[in-house]
Amino acid sequence: MGTTKPDFDSVLRERKAFDETKAGVKGLVDAGVKSVPSLFHHQPHKFEKASNLGNTRHIIPVIDLAGISKDPSKRQGLVDIIKEASETWGFFQVVNHDIPVSVLEEMKNGVKRFHELDTEAKREFYSRDGLKSFVYNSNFDLYGSQPALNWRDSFRCYLYPDTPKPEEIPVACRDILLEYGKHIMKLGTLLFELLSEALCLNPNYLKDMGCAEGLTAFCHYYPACPQPELTIGTSTHSDSDFFTVLLQDHIGGLQVRYHDNWIDINPVPSALVVNIGDLLQLISNDRFKSAEHRVLANDVGPRISIACFFRSVGKGSLKLYGPIRELLSEDNPPKYRETTVAGYQAYYVAKGLDGTSALTHYRI
Ligand code: OGA
Ligand code: NI
Repeated sequence: MGTTKPDFDSVLRERKAFDETKAGVKGLVDAGVKSVPSLFHHQPHKFEKASNLGNTRHIIPVIDLAGISKDPSKRQGLVDIIKEASETWGFFQVVNHDIPVSVLEEMKNGVKRFHELDTEAKREFYSRDGLKSFVYNSNFDLYGSQPALNWRDSFRCYLYPDTPKPEEIPVACRDILLEYGKHIMKLGTLLFELLSEALCLNPNYLKDMGCAEGLTAFCHYYPACPQPELTIGTSTHSDSDFFTVLLQDHIGGLQVRYHDNWIDINPVPSALVVNIGDLLQLISNDRFKSAEHRVLANDVGPRISIACFFRSVGKGSLKLYGPIRELLSEDNPPKYRETTVAGYQAYYVAKGLDGTSALTHYRI
């Protein structure tokens, strides 16, 4: 007998049963599973070894923002590095970003505290309702068409422009999430200016287009995995937003695809990882690259990370975005058709993290 592919209905039933535990991957680990359930099995070829191309530790640029607002020549130097990084890697890290280390530490602690609450205490937040300010679940794309699930749980909180009322956020992470959101908005505003300049546009261009008008935090908990060779923490994907600011702890596992290699994004103490998302690739007409990335599962953990997505929500998400006119010419015609942020997001979520880019759907 050959192996038969489980049929769609039985996969859906199993995913639903997992969903209904409302306890996520952590619930499986707490129950003592010693082997990874088949729902989470990925094809082994998805785990080719990482290669840092023989280079030394950090080949993704680490950019020092110290003094940027005081020194115009320093600012221009940083714009050049950001331009190069956004065109080649789609990833860079920033240090001296003005967010106190104590805030970063407390943010990671708050995420851990929430995920380590009793299942009962978390259950009331377990939801897939896109309209709720705060939801906790496992695999936001659980009912998408991706072949296998990811070894992680997450909570998602909208932060701007409609900041939740404090009581809508669980106490375990309430104060720090609101404070962290303010810091990320400020840093994001600076990054939108630098990215505009890197596209040779005026510093306010991307902000004026409304790109900074929505911030969503996605806070991940990757439990230690008994068989990390069978599954993955986050499968290969690119982000659907304009850009993402990611805080990761010291454990590692985040990788970016560069041509045919997987490059480690090594944790750098108190750094934030910035990566270009699909919408910025679209409006920059492929000038900036929304790079594919993934997170390997690990036998140690939990690993904590906080991804803050700049993507309009609410009314702003109905505005149409297409390649920026100033960047187009006869030799560089638009490569994408226009889309709204809401339309792009709906397509992205329905497709799930299946290893293909949602951008191709919009390519002319
Ligand atoms: C994401 C993501 C990486 C990480 O949330 O889109 O890529 O390290 N996260 O958790
Ligand atoms: Ni991502």
